[in-house]
Formats: sequence, structure tokens, C-alpha cells
Amino acid sequence: MDATGDVTFSNKVGSSNASPRSNLFNTPQTRMQTRIVYGSLVGLTVLVLALVIALAVVASKKSTGREPSAAAGSDAWNGVWDLPEVDCSYAKDKLERAKCVLDSYPLIDGHNDLSAKYRIYSNTSVYNVSLTSDLRTIWNMSHTDIPRLRAGKLGGQFWACFVPCGSQYKDAVRLSLEQLDIIEKFVRRNPETFTWVTTSQGIIDAFKAGRVASLVGLEGGHSIDSSLGTLRMFYNLGVRYMTITHSCNTPWADNWKMDNESTYNETVDGPKLGGLTEFGEKVILEMNRLGMLIDLSHVANATMEDALRVSKAPVIFSHSSAFSVCNHFRNVQDSVLHLLKENGGVVMVNFYDKYVTCPPMRTSASKLKHVADHIDYIKNLIGVDYVGIGADYDGVPSLPEGLEDVSTYPALFAELVARRWSDLDLQKLAGRNLIRVFRKAEKVRDEMSYMPPFEDMLSEDENSHNKPCRTDLSIWGM
Ligand SMILES: *[C@@H]1O[C@H](CO)[C@@H](O)[C@H](O)[C@H]1NC(C)=O
Ligand SMILES: *[C@@H]1O[C@H](CO)[C@@H](O)[C@H](O)[C@H]1NC(C)=O
Ligand SMILES: *[C@@H]1O[C@H](CO)[C@@H](O)[C@H](O)[C@H]1NC(C)=O
Ligand SMILES: *[C@@H]1O[C@H](CO)[C@@H](O)[C@H](O)[C@H]1NC(C)=O
Ligand SMILES: *[C@@H]1O[C@H](CO)[C@@H](O)[C@H](O)[C@H]1NC(C)=O
Ligand SMILES: *[C@@H]1O[C@H](CO)[C@@H](O)[C@H](O)[C@H]1NC(C)=O
Ligand SMILES: [Zn+2]
Repeated sequence: MDATGDVTFSNKVGSSNASPRSNLFNTPQTRMQTRIVYGSLVGLTVLVLALVIALAVVASKKSTGREPSAAAGSDAWNGVWDLPEVDCSYAKDKLERAKCVLDSYPLIDGHNDLSAKYRIYSNTSVYNVSLTSDLRTIWNMSHTDIPRLRAGKLGGQFWACFVPCGSQYKDAVRLSLEQLDIIEKFVRRNPETFTWVTTSQGIIDAFKAGRVASLVGLEGGHSIDSSLGTLRMFYNLGVRYMTITHSCNTPWADNWKMDNESTYNETVDGPKLGGLTEFGEKVILEMNRLGMLIDLSHVANATMEDALRVSKAPVIFSHSSAFSVCNHFRNVQDSVLHLLKENGGVVMVNFYDKYVTCPPMRTSASKLKHVADHIDYIKNLIGVDYVGIGADYDGVPSLPEGLEDVSTYPALFAELVARRWSDLDLQKLAGRNLIRVFRKAEKVRDEMSYMPPFEDMLSEDENSHNKPCRTDLSIWGM
């Protein structure tokens, strides 16, 4: 969620032709290639034994996927079995090639605010509003429904669980639980489309089954009310990333507005903390211990710096773009991008037009090609292993021309095909990078499993903002 604006009614007719993912391993192209391989083997050798061995190798690759070579990525790939690379060179045009890639590897979007639409437009009721037809006919500015996400070849989604900063120190925890409930309801109501997922392997399994892997990201540290116990319970309920702040400070972390004197309001935001406090560092370590991804979208530059120093696992930016291309503080500065590369994380590029083009760099209206510019910029600066997609659909009021809703991802990938991106690099952008980061976070969790939970509490001083909503514990005889 990044902004809510004036809503406008749209009566455009949506593309409602669902296009289920075709099975990569059963395409005519693959069958043809396989026949050629077998034919030449027979031609080259009469030794039955050699043929049997070759067939065994082919069969094992087909059934379990290949182990990507070190050349295919960074060291983090070592020992990890993943979906195979793909050869889409048979495609007749750029769009067909883009779709071929997205059929071979899940496109995992880092951020979508559909659950907020259910709060705003239907009072949290999921069963009153079906996702199976064009939602634009009932909700203004809707970006997401099932026909359109199928057309867009979405493979996995981190659904944002967001409550406004105004609920901090009030009922943020209850409201967050209700948003999480909304997500679980729409996932479970549409089992032919969505599968509830909480692991990296679950994303791959859902994709193979033709389902959209559905995960949850908690958007804003205010949702845990400075309580590590609450953080743990959100993990147990399925939350797999937490954005350290939304656009407000918590008592333990600064948000992006701190970076600009004119967006900082001390009355609202409290004193500047200078990044993460000591308690904030404990939150990061507890997330590492749990295996919850650390999301640095929305945080202050100094918070990014602190979190990257403290975290034992790779971090994500679930919906942020490049500051050097558009100098909004919701975007990531080059110096931090270099730290992100060292950390092994991923920045998932936001499509919000206000973060895509901004003066003085660019004054023209934003278009699809400008989002591709952000992606190319990050790739050229730190490498293709650290970039992904986090469009922020249904969390923003306006989008670039050509990227209006979840049906448009293939058009973006086609633009990158035109810019000579390889099929493997497109797979990395789509999901390979995020899967790598998620797997590493799960590995760090396993390595930290000997540790007891962090039981730190926020001190009275740090908690002064919070006083009005705290129960006097003497009622427990304390
Ligand atoms: C949709 O937008 C139109 C025009 O701005 C407005 O009249 C209408 O009330 C809006 N509907 C909803 C549900 O917000
Ligand atoms: C939402 O539900 C509450 C509780 O029943 C009710 O008071 C409120 O009017 C409802 N709002 C809308 C927009 O339906
Ligand atoms: C759901 O729809 C029913 C029937 O139209 C209506 O009575 C009810 O208030 C709606 N509930 C919500 C939460 O919008
Ligand atoms: C800061 O926020 C408070 C509370 O919303 C408001 O009254 C005040 O005018 C703001 N100050 C500035 C400088 O914008
Ligand atoms: C942002 O943080 C990075 C990493 O520590 C630092 O190099 C850079 O100077 C910071 N930028 C600003 C404007 O403070
Ligand atoms: C700082 O905020 C002001 C007021 O919102 C804005 O005009 C300016 O562009 C911002 N600067 C940066 C670098 O974001
Ligand atoms: Zn956001």
C-alpha cells in the first residue's frame, strides 16, 4: 500500500479469458527436442548399455529438475534443486517468448493490496464479492481479479496485510488479524486458483499444480505493537515477511519520511531514532530466527543500513524502485543497492507511477518502458541476481501506461526480451531470485534453531507513545 487516491469509475471491459498455465514439460517443442536427442543417441552408438545410462540421466533430470550450475547464479544456488532453465527461442515474437518464460518459472510478485479493497469496499466480506469475473464492474480502480491474473501469468503473490498508521497505538493488531483473515478467506474460497503457501518449496509445488502460490507479508512494524510474542504468532499464522515500518515510525525504527525534512513531522513521527534502536535490532534477529523475511520497503535509509548490517539472512524490498532513476525516498539509493548485493537480497520493483518517473530526472508521464528502465538500472548496477517484481497493485491510485493491472506482466517481460534479456535472466527476475532469498532465509532459520526465542521487551521510556493503550498490569496482581 502506498497511497489511496480519488477513485474513478471505469467501465472498460476486462480480458476475462483465463489462460491456465501450460505444462512446460509437455509442449510440442520439448517433445520434439527429446525425440531428436534420442535419435542421435541411437545413431551415435550401438551400445545398449550407453543408451540405458543416457536415458537414465535424462529421466532423472526430468523428474527432479536440474541442479543449477554455479555459472547460472551466485554461490547461493549450490546444492539447491530448482526448476529447470528453459529455451524459449522457438517463440515467434517477444510476447510469446515472455509468456514461455512465465510458463517455465513462477512470477512471484512481492506486494499486492487486494485485501485492503475488501476492507474499503465490502466491509471485509469476501463472500459478497467474487474474484472470478471482472471486478472493475463493481469496484473503482480494481487492479486484481482471477481472469486478469491468469492472463498476466502470475505464479506467486505476497498478499499485503496492511492497516493504516493511524491505528498504531490503538487497534492495529486486531485490524491486522482481520486483514490476514480476509486474505485467508479469499485464498480458501478460490482453491482452483490459489494455494496457501508458507515455504519456498510450497511456491514451486503450487506452480507445478497450476495454482497461484499465496503468501502473506505484514506491511508495517506497527502491526506487532512492539511485541516479539505478537511477531511470533503472526509467523505461526503464516506471515512470511514483515515490512519493518510503513510510512510512520515505530518506537524502534525510522520510516522513509525521516529522509526528507519536508516530509518529517515531529508531532506525528516522534523524535528521529537514527535507524533501528537496540530493540529494533532484536526484531531483525528474531525474524531471522523465525525464518520471516525482512522487508525494507518504506523504511528510512538509516534503517536499511542498520537492518542490512544486523540481518543474518538476505533481505527484500517488497515494492521499491531505484532512487537514481526516480529520486523518491521510497526508492532505494545506489549505496544501499551495493549493500543489498553483498547481503544477497532482492529489490522487487514498484510500478507506482509516482515512484517510476519524477522530476527532475523525468517529467513525462510514466510508461511501461520506464519501469523497464528501473529494472535495467538495478541489473546494470548490481547484477541480475538481485532484482524482482513488486508491483503494488491495488495499493496505488495510478500506474504507468501499459501496466494498468495484473494482466500486464507479460508485456513488461516482452519489453525486456526486446532489450535482449536472456530466458534465464527473465526467470531470475520473475522468481528465481526471490526463491533463492527465501531458501537462504529458511536455511538461516534452521541454523539458528538452537537459540531460544528473544524475550526482550520495549522499555518504559521507549514505550512512552504507547501509554494510553496499555493495560495497567496490576490487575494481574503484578
Ligand atoms: C466510483 O467513482 C465514481 C466517480 O468518481 C463515484 O461517483 C462513485 O461513487 C465511485 N464508487 C465507489 C464504490 O467508490
Ligand atoms: C460494516 O459493518 C459494521 C458492523 O456491522 C457496520 O456498523 C457498518 O455500517 C458497516 N459498513 C458498511 C460500509 O457496510
Ligand atoms: C453482504 O451481502 C448481503 C446481501 O446483499 C448484505 O445483506 C450484507 O450486508 C453484505 N455484507 C457485507 C459485510 O457487506
Ligand atoms: C504536523 O502534524 C500535526 C498533526 O497532524 C499538524 O497539526 C501540524 O500542522 C503538522 N506540522 C507541519 C509542520 O506540517
Ligand atoms: C544511505 O545509506 C547508505 C548506506 O549506509 C549510505 O552510504 C548513504 O550515504 C546514505 N544516504 C544518505 C542520503 O544518507
Ligand atoms: C522532499 O519533500 C518535498 C515536499 O514533499 C518534495 O517537494 C521534494 O521533492 C522531496 N525531496 C526528495 C528528494 O524526495
Ligand atoms: Zn507500501
